[in-house]
Amino acid sequence: MNQNPKNAALEAKELERSYKLADIVKQRQHTLTTLALQPGEKVFDIGCGVGFLTNEMAMLVGKTGQVIGFDQNPEMISHAKQRCEGLQQAEFYEGDAAQLPAEDKTFDAVSCTQVLLYVKDVPKVLTEMRRILKPGGRLVILETDWRGVVLNSADDNLTKQIFSAWDSAVPSPNLPIHLGPLLKKHGFSKIRVEAVPILNTEYSPSNFSHGMMEWITNNAVKQGVFNETQRIDFLVDLEERGRSGCYFFCVNRFLFSAKI
Ligand SMILES: C[S@@+](CC[C@H](N)C(=O)[O-])C[C@H]1O[C@@H](n2cnc3c(N)ncnc32)[C@H](O)[C@@H]1O
Repeated sequence: MNQNPKNAALEAKELERSYKLADIVKQRQHTLTTLALQPGEKVFDIGCGVGFLTNEMAMLVGKTGQVIGFDQNPEMISHAKQRCEGLQQAEFYEGDAAQLPAEDKTFDAVSCTQVLLYVKDVPKVLTEMRRILKPGGRLVILETDWRGVVLNSADDNLTKQIFSAWDSAVPSPNLPIHLGPLLKKHGFSKIRVEAVPILNTEYSPSNFSHGMMEWITNNAVKQGVFNETQRIDFLVDLEERGRSGCYFFCVNRFLFSAKI
């Protein structure tokens, strides 16, 4: 995730658009069901983004509860504050996930969805999560493994290079396969994992993969995989596949839950 102010604002704008899509709403619902929040509980949302999940968690814990939304990007915090305006139980702070502004053993639950991929020192963040959870506290982590993505395109080799460039753009790719053992090592128990697939068979702006392919191919241009003209050709091919009923995209998210 980029800390340049212009990019930070662009990322917040893109999250506002994409996190309203049905694919992501469904995923958020899954996360909330797994977390099973109760009125009066205290939750810490690490990497809250523009606050969609934070907002829904604040409604669930109610006025007697508390939700802390925490993000390193001030643009995200500003969107999240607006989203939760009027919810006195929601508070927002800016900072890095490696150092959470919370006392030891004070939270009933911690959520961290789509964040750890962007974090350099994942063990440090897991240590922080454990530190702030009360005994018996719950954790949910949702992460994507882009190495398992499936896309029907004209050029398999180029597609591999595009996704490989995407993988190398983040500090902690391929995290889901390591996360179970890491959670155990950090003192978590009752570790469960479920796959939450995003499957799109239409190439439409109302689907998650449509916007994602813009970001992913832009990144591939930046990393020299191809040039802008070739990028457009690649996207035109996907559009044609959409029109002829041949578009196919699938990526798995993995929802981890654990207790201490
Ligand atoms: C893809 S968004 C996910 C937002 C939100 N968790 C959700 O699922 O709706 C990732 C967020 O993590 C934040 N982030 C990334 N690395 C972070 C770090 N080291 N500390 C705090 N926030 C971080 C980004 O600024 C961004 O808002």
